[in-house]
Amino acid sequence: MNVILFGPPGAGKGTQGELLADRFDLKRLSTGDLLREARRAGTELGRRAQQYMDAGELVPDAVILGIVREVMEAEAQRNGFIFDGFPRTEAQAAALADMLREMGTSLNAVVVLDIEDETLVRRLAGRLSCPGCGAVYNRYSEPPRVAGICDLCGAELVQRADDREETVRRRLEVYREQTAPVLDWYERNGAPMEHLDGDRPVRAIQTDLVALFDG
Ligand code: AP5
Repeated sequence: MNVILFGPPGAGKGTQGELLADRFDLKRLSTGDLLREARRAGTELGRRAQQYMDAGELVPDAVILGIVREVMEAEAQRNGFIFDGFPRTEAQAAALADMLREMGTSLNAVVVLDIEDETLVRRLAGRLSCPGCGAVYNRYSEPPRVAGICDLCGAELVQRADDREETVRRRLEVYREQTAPVLDWYERNGAPMEHLDGDRPVRAIQTDLVALFDG
C-alpha cells in the first residue's frame, strides 16, 4: 500500500501520516523530517538544505530524490509507504512513479487534506516540536501535559525556525505556486485521488482515512 498525504504546510500530514503508518504497519517517509535529521547531524546534506528550509523555499529536486531513493531502497521489504511532504514538484512526482515501477508496485491513492490558510497560520504558530524524540504538539489543540516539556522524553519543546509567521506565509505561497500544480499532474496521469476536510479534529480525519484503506 503506497499513499501520498498531500496538503499545505500545517494541514496535518505528519500527524495523520504517523497514525496511519502505525495502523497499517507502513513506512512513513517524510522528506521534511529527513532533512531536519540531516541538519541535526550536521551532514553536508543538512547544511545544503538549511538555507532553503529557513527561507521557506523548496530544496532542489536532485537532493530530495537522492534521500528518497535511499530510504525506499533500504525499506523495500516493508508493506508500503506513506509519503508525507513528498512529492512537491512534477519532477519529484514523475521520479516517484519511476521508483515505484522499478519496485514492482504503484500508488494506491493521493489523499489531499483541504484547509484554509488562516487556520494553517494559527496552527503552525502553535506547533511545538521535541528536539529529542521528534514528537509534535500544539499549544492550542494538542498541548503537552506540562507546558513546554515533551510528554514522551522530557526534553524542552521548541518552535521550528520555519514556523515564524512570515516564513509560514512564504511556505504557503510556495505551496500554491509550485506544489499544488502536482495535483493536476496526478489527475492527468489518472491517479486515484481523495479529498478530506482537514479542518476537523485529528480523530475524525483519522477515522475517514482508515475507512479509505480498510477492507
Ligand atoms: P515539511 O517538514 O514537509 O513541512 P510542511 O509540508 O510545510 O508540513 P508541516 O510539517 O509544516 O505540516 P504538516 O502538514 O505535517 O502538519 P502537522 O501534522 O505537523 O517541510 C519543511 C521544509 O523542508 C520545506 O519548507 C522545504 O524547505 C523542505 N522540504 C521538505 N520536503 C521537500 C520536498 N519534497 N521538496 C523540496 N523541499 C522539501 O501539524 C501541524 C500542527 O497542527 C501541529 O502542531 C499539530 O499538532 C497540529 N494539528 C495537526 N492536525 C490537527 C487538527 N486536525 N486539528 C488541530 N491541530 C492539528
